[in-house]
Amino acid sequence: MAAEHVEKVFDVLLGRRSVRKFTDQPVGMDDLRRILEAGRWAPSGLNNQPWRFLVVRPGDARQETMAGLTKYGHIVRNAQALVVVLLHKPTMYHEGKDHQAAGACIQNMLLAIHALGLGGVWIGEIINQEKDVLEALHLGSENFRLMAVIALGHPLHPFEARADGSARRPLEELLVEAL
Ligand SMILES: Cc1cc2nc3c(=O)[nH]c(=O)nc-3n(C[C@H](O)[C@H](O)[C@H](O)COP(=O)(O)O)c2cc1C
Repeated sequence: MAAEHVEKVFDVLLGRRSVRKFTDQPVGMDDLRRILEAGRWAPSGLNNQPWRFLVVRPGDARQETMAGLTKYGHIVRNAQALVVVLLHKPTMYHEGKDHQAAGACIQNMLLAIHALGLGGVWIGEIINQEKDVLEALHLGSENFRLMAVIALGHPLHPFEARADGSARRPLEELLVEAL
């Protein structure tokens, strides 16, 4: 990869931050499709692609229903799109690896959101209310498992990436053996 492209990739990787406040500007369908495309190309064990997506947009009563099912309801309510990320049970082959694949898929989408100039956040708390969420979405728990909801939109505040990495533990602390 050409050096300037490498720099751009790292800008996206290191510059992404969770965005929890959005303007009322809608998210275009082309952008939504590109975000889902990024998720679709995540790696998965045996390439089984166990993820499934359900997109909820403003005007859909299910947005308010989901807002009522998480303590992060203010973020869900304010979002210009919600991507509900599910695992499809009949496609799963290994509990742990399928969950890891879902994480890779979600991160791919968060990076795509950031690269497109949008902002988003991984809402994990909502899976504590998985049963209620699946019921509200008319998704049978025999077929689906709730992994996360990604709330997204145009960021309310232009945000500055913390280029010094201060929001993360130093690498030395993460290395169980010095490099
Ligand atoms: C598994 C998981 C669950 C998360 N759940 C929530 C959540 O429920 N609500 C929320 O506001 N942020 C949630 N986050 C976002 C984290 O708080 C955030 O990624 C972390 O604080 C690092 O900040 P950054 O994303 O801005 O780098 C979650 C992130 C992950 C990976």
